[in-house]
Amino acid sequence: GGKPTTATIQADKPGPVYDRLIFTQFAEHLGNGIYGGLWVGNDKSIPNTNGFRNDVVAALRNLNVPAIRWPGGCFADEYHWRDGIGPKARRPVKVNTHWGGVTEPNSVGTHEFMELVRQIGAEPYIAGNVGNGTAREMAEWVEYMTAPAGSLAEERARNGRKEPWKVPYFGVGNELWGCGGNMRPEFAADETRRFATFVKAPAGTKIVKIAAGANVDDYSWTDAMMRIAGSQIDGLSLHYYVHPAGGWPPRAPAVDFDETGWADALAGAWRMEELIAKHSAIMDKYDPQKRVFLAVDEWGAWYAQDPGTHPGFLRQQNTLRDALIASIHLDIFARHADRVRMTAIAQMVNVLQAMILTEGRKMVLTPTYHVFEMYKPWQDATVLPIAIDTPWYGKDRFTMPAVSGSAVRGKDGKVHVGLSNLDPNVANTVTVKLEGLSAGTVSGRVLTAPAINAHNSFDAPEAVKPAPFTGARIDGGTLTVALPPKSVVVLDLQ
Ligand code: AHR
Repeated sequence: GGKPTTATIQADKPGPVYDRLIFTQFAEHLGNGIYGGLWVGNDKSIPNTNGFRNDVVAALRNLNVPAIRWPGGCFADEYHWRDGIGPKARRPVKVNTHWGGVTEPNSVGTHEFMELVRQIGAEPYIAGNVGNGTAREMAEWVEYMTAPAGSLAEERARNGRKEPWKVPYFGVGNELWGCGGNMRPEFAADETRRFATFVKAPAGTKIVKIAAGANVDDYSWTDAMMRIAGSQIDGLSLHYYVHPAGGWPPRAPAVDFDETGWADALAGAWRMEELIAKHSAIMDKYDPQKRVFLAVDEWGAWYAQDPGTHPGFLRQQNTLRDALIASIHLDIFARHADRVRMTAIAQMVNVLQAMILTEGRKMVLTPTYHVFEMYKPWQDATVLPIAIDTPWYGKDRFTMPAVSGSAVRGKDGKVHVGLSNLDPNVANTVTVKLEGLSAGTVSGRVLTAPAINAHNSFDAPEAVKPAPFTGARIDGGTLTVALPPKSVVVLDLQ
């Protein structure tokens, strides 16, 4: 056994709210993220409601997905909303130039996306086109969706929707430093000011505007955006992916990795801590009140795509390693919940670090899905400070704290504690001092598996799934947790 871990939870010093929007999902027109994964249209062989598959929608409903970011990603900055409204037979077929060069039938457009959001019980987070669209086109899309009256509202009604939709969150472009237009930061900030000006909410409503933020550690981008456009926006995004095996382009296999690949990826997840701290410090300089939030609206692991899958579809399996990547991120977001009030894992179905994989009519829930399900009590909970003193785990040059964790007081009034043991070989007993809290009982669940690369396949869909956890007890003011190697544990105290 390794050196034990000690921790203190200060239940009497409640922190910020852990915004439910931290569990936002990202669904891009990419590979089978939308077509096949969510939308099957008229394919009667796959049970669906108004074109969206019932199995996938039910699984996502169970996660309480708060919001869905759509239609991209890179796709957003070349998307023209008028291509996706009106009779399907008359919608133009385009080429998806970013993702695989396949045809984009535009069968899923604004009305269909809003139907998906309704079925899942989420809110829409629409990403507008700054890259090759105009400010007028963006303004008219917003008007089409939200206006109570006028000719665009009448067109919307003719297309089947009389009532305006609510568009609570709107992205002013995506990755303007790259696929969104290869802009320099000052120019992007000016463009953001101009486009954001014309994103107007109808009287009595509010549209939260999120600007296209930095790539990874591009701190000068955040600085320019905050300095030039900070007063015009409500949120600023940040994109960071975990790329083991040497960074871009993604080359690490999703399943066929050894312990070095495990440690490399988990150290990559830990890097998010430093990135958020440094971007937040820049935002603090311009916005000490923390009015503008940091929206980490693309995160997760990005590996080489699975062998034999369509190029450009970014299809990757999801293992126990991805579960730990997810829990490490969710714990980091707790420590920064004062500034990080929205994040979106990339992506929801069949793309990158997905919740769900489908193939034809088959569906499987990934280990990442199970972590999101286990962390549901974090949604809109109050963060409780937790200080963790843990040994280090490392393999080769990849080292990190062995135990990650976060604690919240849920909306149910109970205290929930998440603890992950990143060490794949050594169990760790965590002794947690509970301050300002008199809990008598503890129960919980654990997600683990015999192998570091254990995963769920269509043949073995339950190889990695949560199980009841019996390794925790409370004695007086002390919680003791026997964390198995390579595990995520979530506890409920009462
Ligand atoms: O999530 C895949 C792509 O990654 C997105 O389209 C883009 O924004 C990012 O580069």
